[in-house]
Amino acid sequence: MVVASAPGKCILFGEHAVVYGQPAVAVAIDARVELTIELAESGWSIDGMSFDKTRHPHMDSVRKRLWSNDGGPALDLQVSSDLFGAAGLGSSAAICSAFAAGLLHCRGTDSGALPYSGIATTAHLAEADAQGGRASPTDTSTVTLGGAIYVSNQKESIADWQFSRDLRIDGELRSWEIHCIDLPESLSEASLVIGFTGRPGPTGEMVAKVADLLKNEPERMTDIERIGHVTRAGVTALNLGNLEAIGIAMNECHRLLQGLGVSDPDLDRMVDAALPSSLGAKMTGAGGGGCMIALTLEPRRTAEAIELAGGRTLVSSLGAPGVRIEKSADVPIWNS
Ligand code: PMV
Repeated sequence: MVVASAPGKCILFGEHAVVYGQPAVAVAIDARVELTIELAESGWSIDGMSFDKTRHPHMDSVRKRLWSNDGGPALDLQVSSDLFGAAGLGSSAAICSAFAAGLLHCRGTDSGALPYSGIATTAHLAEADAQGGRASPTDTSTVTLGGAIYVSNQKESIADWQFSRDLRIDGELRSWEIHCIDLPESLSEASLVIGFTGRPGPTGEMVAKVADLLKNEPERMTDIERIGHVTRAGVTALNLGNLEAIGIAMNECHRLLQGLGVSDPDLDRMVDAALPSSLGAKMTGAGGGGCMIALTLEPRRTAEAIELAGGRTLVSSLGAPGVRIEKSADVPIWNS
């Protein structure tokens, strides 16, 4: 038996603007997805039921790329998750990453020598396969590498460059440079409280809403550029461990996202409720539902305030560890 896990993620800065070439920062969170893999006696199964590739297109893509296309045997899979589902916390990316790492380990890759860029690439391609070819590598890079990830369309000197990803989306070659931000120890005194509205954030719909706004009011591109500036200021603040400046950048990001029309009354109410006990608060991800986040030194007080405003909460440190093997096989499960 092999057990692999990967964390969820939330976007600290840059959602929506990243679609237009601006940078974004995401952090891995303490809530994880765990995947148990065992050799099957009969066909493929997931959580005790026969594996249905239409229900699990992401996992089907990973399975083909790393296992079935090479003739690997059927497996029984069990998935468990601490993440809110369909909340924009990267659960499908985490499953893809844990599955890719788990399969590589089943084929003999040492748990201490996981090829992170290869796992992130497989997971990104799986997300793209399952999402009609459109996926940025933000989620899959963050859940694979862990910590804080800076995604930009150019190599940045302010962070540690890890790898490049590209993908042809709607006929156009898009490329991303993936960096790690080395988070200073001082950030460990702060927590992120994640508040879930209880409704999924409809990513495609919200991205289309911003596209329509920019088409009708092209001058609003300055707001997208402003989000890019705030993101860069946020990266400097993260590097310096300047909690107050991170909070200010989060507040500014929320204000700009509200201006783009992607926040909603539930998110705004939860952000307002969190602010008196927080360094900063904002919606995270696509908006229109989904989650908000607050950076705070008083996580219990902030979580209570968000719950009173109707949210379900999760408390996390900033930058959890990335994908890892929790339980190793003594010998490869399948020696191809
Ligand atoms: O739905 P989420 O939390 O993965 O966030 C989507 C982020 C967007 O910037 C709105 C879209 C994108 O592809 O980057």
